[in-house]
Amino acid sequence: MGEWEYRWTKEGQVTNGKLEGKVALITGAGSGIGAATARLMAQAGAAVAITGIPDDGVISVAAEITASGGSAIAIPTDVSDPDQVEAAVSQTVETFGHLDIAVPNAGIQMHSEDRNLHELPEAVWDRTHDVNYKGQFFTCKYALAQMVKQGTGGVVILTASITALRGTTPNVAYATGKAGIVNLARHIAVHYGAQGIRANSISPGALERTPDFDLHPNPVGRRAEMVAKIPLGRLGTPEDIAPFITFLATGDASFATGANFVIDGGMTVI
Ligand SMILES: NC(=O)c1ccc[n+]([C@@H]2O[C@H](COP(=O)([O-])OP(=O)(O)OC[C@H]3O[C@@H](n4cnc5c(N)ncnc54)[C@H](O)[C@@H]3O)[C@@H](O)[C@H]2O)c1
Repeated sequence: MGEWEYRWTKEGQVTNGKLEGKVALITGAGSGIGAATARLMAQAGAAVAITGIPDDGVISVAAEITASGGSAIAIPTDVSDPDQVEAAVSQTVETFGHLDIAVPNAGIQMHSEDRNLHELPEAVWDRTHDVNYKGQFFTCKYALAQMVKQGTGGVVILTASITALRGTTPNVAYATGKAGIVNLARHIAVHYGAQGIRANSISPGALERTPDFDLHPNPVGRRAEMVAKIPLGRLGTPEDIAPFITFLATGDASFATGANFVIDGGMTVI
């Protein structure tokens, strides 16, 4: 049996133990990639702060983890409001004692409105960047303040996108914010490495559901268009991405920092 062997804790929880004793804060954890990551990190032994909006999403994911023997707290938080993000970090530390892992992940996608740069409403640009870019800035800022204060290192895994790496998406505010995220991870890696803090970004490709999927103008056409461009011949799922984020949070990734990891079924290499 390898190191990834699963076992039962005395509380009856199945775990691989890789994150035992660690505390993680995940934003946008009421659905999708954030929820899948929270579940997996809890299985790996971490206590998880499930933050984001809407309230019912984060409350139900935290309740589900707690019911299966994990350690979780729901903290409804709008990441575009710095006071709420700061309060979420404080509440996490008051509840679990410290903060070791931050996963800025909350995001929106204004599919129909975020296009045609020459006539793009400023409000669409601002709203997208307020949530997707500033939201990750606020999460990094307050998580790093706590990690620096603790003096015991830490890990940040930021959520970019393959749209950060190419010009193909019509959603220009979305793509430019994601490009900024890739460099935000590099900045943290360089300037906080000496304090034992690692930072990487991940760039998921096209998943079955995008943020705000129900607002997508042509979900059937999107699916056909995307699948045709993916060498593995299928769209991804949150469960394809969560193990990667969880791995980056463990000591097994202790020499990985400043990188952007693409998980896209091969879409960006064709
Ligand atoms: N699904 C994809 O195809 C894909 C591809 C690349 C990158 N991503 C990125 O992955 C991340 C997670 O997306 P997902 O696919 O899990 O979609 P999702 O919509 O399930 O997750 C995003 C979460 O963020 C929450 N959220 C929205 N605005 C918020 C705010 N102001 N404050 C706090 N929470 C807020 C949403 O309610 C939702 O729970 C996003 O950053 C997204 O841009 C997704």
